[in-house]
Amino acid sequence: MFRIKACLFSYILIALTPFAANSQQSSLEQWMKTEGNIALTRMNQNISPTGAARGVVIASPSRQDPDYYFHWTRDAALVMETFYLPQTFADYTEFSRQTQLVSTLTGLGEPRFNIDGSAYTGPWARPQNDGPALRVLTILRSLRRPQISSATAQATAQTTVQAIVQTDLQYILNYFRTPSFCLWEEVKGDHFYTRLVQMAALKESLEHFDSNWNIPRQTLQTAMTSLQNELARHWRDDKKYFSATLNRIEGAENYKFTDLDTAVILAVLHANLETDEFSVKDDRILATASQLETAFAATYEINAPTYASPYPVAPAIGRYTDDIYFGGNPWYITTAAFAELHYRLSLQLMKNNSYVVTELNLPFLKKALALRGSDSDVAELQSGLNLKTRPQLVKLLQEGLLARGDLFMARLRLHTPVDGSMAEQFARKDGQPVSARDLTWSYASFLSALKSRKALFE
Ligand code: NOJ
Ligand code: NOJ
Repeated sequence: MFRIKACLFSYILIALTPFAANSQQSSLEQWMKTEGNIALTRMNQNISPTGAARGVVIASPSRQDPDYYFHWTRDAALVMETFYLPQTFADYTEFSRQTQLVSTLTGLGEPRFNIDGSAYTGPWARPQNDGPALRVLTILRSLRRPQISSATAQATAQTTVQAIVQTDLQYILNYFRTPSFCLWEEVKGDHFYTRLVQMAALKESLEHFDSNWNIPRQTLQTAMTSLQNELARHWRDDKKYFSATLNRIEGAENYKFTDLDTAVILAVLHANLETDEFSVKDDRILATASQLETAFAATYEINAPTYASPYPVAPAIGRYTDDIYFGGNPWYITTAAFAELHYRLSLQLMKNNSYVVTELNLPFLKKALALRGSDSDVAELQSGLNLKTRPQLVKLLQEGLLARGDLFMARLRLHTPVDGSMAEQFARKDGQPVSARDLTWSYASFLSALKSRKALFE
């Protein structure tokens, strides 16, 4: 009797699942499409807003609690990475050059500028040394795009771009050994995030190297190797994750006791290296991601199984579990980053290169495979297996990674109001928007995830 019931039950499940999954899938896809357009529009509204200098990217229209009506070097670079209009790029570079030339308290390590381009001199966590590196990455990568490079071909634009890049590179070379504040503007020390984007900027600059530059190639090369070695030291073999900060000097004195931080995942996405090390393929990165997910799943009320969602979702992701800023909530950018991580790994697996399952990447891969493979497929996934020898399994894994990425997108959907606006955070208790409204970077991170998803179908 029991057996028959079980059989009947699984029959109904089999009969219903494909339909339910498909309609859910198409409604998620519809939402992503609509949200993509809203994100573009709202992001654009935060670029060169009325009253600001041209080329300013405000972090958010919010002028109090928090006041984000400033141009952050970091946020602006990350936003421009997803925004391709040649005129906007030209405005951004013009304004960036201005901010490089203005005198500030910490030179190019100054994290944010007033919207007229003057230096912000109030108290702040400074310097933050990821900014110049992100700007180099954004500019050099943008120049690979035909529309941008042809629009920048003209002599004055060329001069500006070349000047920005060399000035930023010189700053990186001068300060990469010196501790600075992290991207969260909280802790002073040596950061995985800052170091990885610096390393990537040097690498990118070597690929674009121009013999007219006032910096010798060898100097860039040596600094890059040195950063690479320092980055390796962030791996904590006892905990099996990359430590966000070494040599912690000050900041967040009464909180942030954990060193497990989504900044590590953002670093990999923003550096976007093609190498095995410090890329989405790096099994240590996937181990760090698995631990982050588990930690956040157990931290936020909205991640508890008792929190009802009309459709399946992955856990909401924050910065680190004992965050206290605005109560310590999940963020849109960090949740979008988890979607992107899955999409990008899926794309890598399509390249059909050698890819070895290890103890470190196994939990991450298993979770994805379980969404598309059978129990026996999942059982086959074992440490030591080279996926190159198992094309069928790779295919299921690629699909599983896409499906798992989509669950993070579905999580964003769940906490995005119907008007499509994305703030900085959503409340850990009820998922309502918290902190700065219309955060430019939230839109950029959503668009960036969407772009890596699209790449899977090209
Ligand atoms: C503390 C927050 O955690 C940090 O991210 C923010 O930038 C600063 N306060 C300034 O608002
Ligand atoms: C606080 C975040 O921690 C920081 O990374 C960001 O640059 C600023 N807000 C502005 O969005």
